[in-house]
Amino acid sequence: MTIGISNHPSLMNAAHYLVEKLEPATGYRFPIRKKGKTDILLDIKALPDTTPGAYQLRVTAKRVVITANNYNGIISGISTLRQLLPEQIERNYTFNEEVEWTVPCVTVTDAPRFQYRGLMLDVARHYFDKEEIKVLLDRMALYKLNKFHWHLTDNEGWRIEIKRYPKLTQESGWRLFNGLDQYCENKAQGDGNHEFNLTKKHLKTIDGKVYYGGFYTQEEIKEVVAYASKLGIDVIPEIDMPGHFNAASAVYPEVICPKANMSSSPVCAGNDSAIEFCKNVYSEVFALFPNQDVHIGADEVGKENWKDCPSCQKRIKDEGLKDEKELQSWFVHTMEKFFREHGKRLIGWDEITEGGLSNTSTVMWWTGSEETLNKTLSHGNKIIMTPNQWLYFDHGQNNSSAKHVFEYDPIPESIQRKDLIAGVQANIWGEYIPSMLRVDYMSMPKMLCLSEVAWVLPTVKNWDTFSTQIEDQIPRLDMMGINYRVPELESDIFISKRKVVYLNVPPQEWLCDTIMLEHGKRVVDLKAPYPGIQIRYTTDGTIPTIQSTTYATPFTVTAPSEYMFATFRPNGTRGEFRKVVFVQEK
Ligand code: ACM
Ligand code: ZN
Repeated sequence: MTIGISNHPSLMNAAHYLVEKLEPATGYRFPIRKKGKTDILLDIKALPDTTPGAYQLRVTAKRVVITANNYNGIISGISTLRQLLPEQIERNYTFNEEVEWTVPCVTVTDAPRFQYRGLMLDVARHYFDKEEIKVLLDRMALYKLNKFHWHLTDNEGWRIEIKRYPKLTQESGWRLFNGLDQYCENKAQGDGNHEFNLTKKHLKTIDGKVYYGGFYTQEEIKEVVAYASKLGIDVIPEIDMPGHFNAASAVYPEVICPKANMSSSPVCAGNDSAIEFCKNVYSEVFALFPNQDVHIGADEVGKENWKDCPSCQKRIKDEGLKDEKELQSWFVHTMEKFFREHGKRLIGWDEITEGGLSNTSTVMWWTGSEETLNKTLSHGNKIIMTPNQWLYFDHGQNNSSAKHVFEYDPIPESIQRKDLIAGVQANIWGEYIPSMLRVDYMSMPKMLCLSEVAWVLPTVKNWDTFSTQIEDQIPRLDMMGINYRVPELESDIFISKRKVVYLNVPPQEWLCDTIMLEHGKRVVDLKAPYPGIQIRYTTDGTIPTIQSTTYATPFTVTAPSEYMFATFRPNGTRGEFRKVVFVQEK
């Protein structure tokens, strides 16, 4: 069995990627051939569908051919091939089990609806190392997302090495536990939920003090960018400024206004050397990320210090600006000019519309504000849709959350300039997400819904069909060891429903219901929410563990009692749990 590539220099990378995907589970390493007849062929060429990223997968009794009009399309074709293979293909080890590695004979012809299909991870609040990032990139590739937005800096941490300013990472890459860390640890203790445990390998002890964090060296950044590129994913770095800049100003206080109030300490826009600092940081960033799009952040800038700062006020006067909002735009425009001089295109959060938008920046729309949306579109700027009401994956979840993501349409009827919608992105803000387990829990299976939004026209989307497709993917997620969210149990003994709060703070309490025994009894009839999920319960008030009694068939409760029910994934990890107190009818 062999893999062939047509005469396109980039295809060797894709072939290696496919070889590496197929080898761990099958134990077979496909040789790669540049000529002759092969069992699998990867071929970049013009297709009838000229949408960039369009691909075709043809499986016949004789061979598999993946054709696409660009590299990313080839990766999408490989992802479809993976999804057609038995789910055991996603194991990263061989297993003593007979698997028939077959694929049905099909022709799949597909093209993405949007060119920008993104996922953002905040690594500033909690650090994730390069290996953890690669795992996330793998999943993005499998589910055909092609932009990884890496939120590398924020008030709580600075994660990217900048050689000219070493204190950014040496000091601000690490911290003593803050309130968020304490919150997560308490949550882990209280509910016994390991997803909230701070990741041990990101702790270090110096002189008896425990520091938490980490950062990427420039070499590591290059490694991740190269890895992503092999998976057809562009990496968009974000160095958030002028606000969300406390990690920098804590170690280089000269970059903020003198006498700054630290609760709001953006870069001093009146200080030329502070602007120089920002440009120097970006010079190093540009050199590490070949992608043209670079994100400057510019969200939620507290402007109080600018009001009281003589340098900032002088800048406003000298530049003929109206107010601090225009000063913010002046800062962004100044930086954008610098970006353009280095061949880069600027993306900013939708606050960059506030004091006047440049012609060339792309707006990442998160606030849900009609005003900024209309301003952007009437100004003719490209826009990436990531509204917090739909696509903030760190927000609370209930059993409607995946459907809610699925139903999002990035192009509402009212929009005139549909061509300006570059695509969609979901964001994973890190405040309450200290581990990859928690990243999984918050993003899976919602990532599949996001992909559907990014690929498929609303007219052909159907939730009932798609929800069964999600169920079909669950065994695959199990093979990959993904800690996906198991839907909450639904039954007539579970009355209270989890409210969706559009806030990232995790719910404090598990749900608890009081149920009357009718004529002295009540039937407990439960259904596992996904294939492979086990239900276990206790009657002694403790949270169920993998050793607790398994629920197998319906049973009848005949005496006042307390039950605690929980779901367990096939790998033995617990999903949500809830309590029912059965009481005698009055
Ligand atoms: C944001 O959520 N502050 C972009
Ligand atoms: Zn200032």
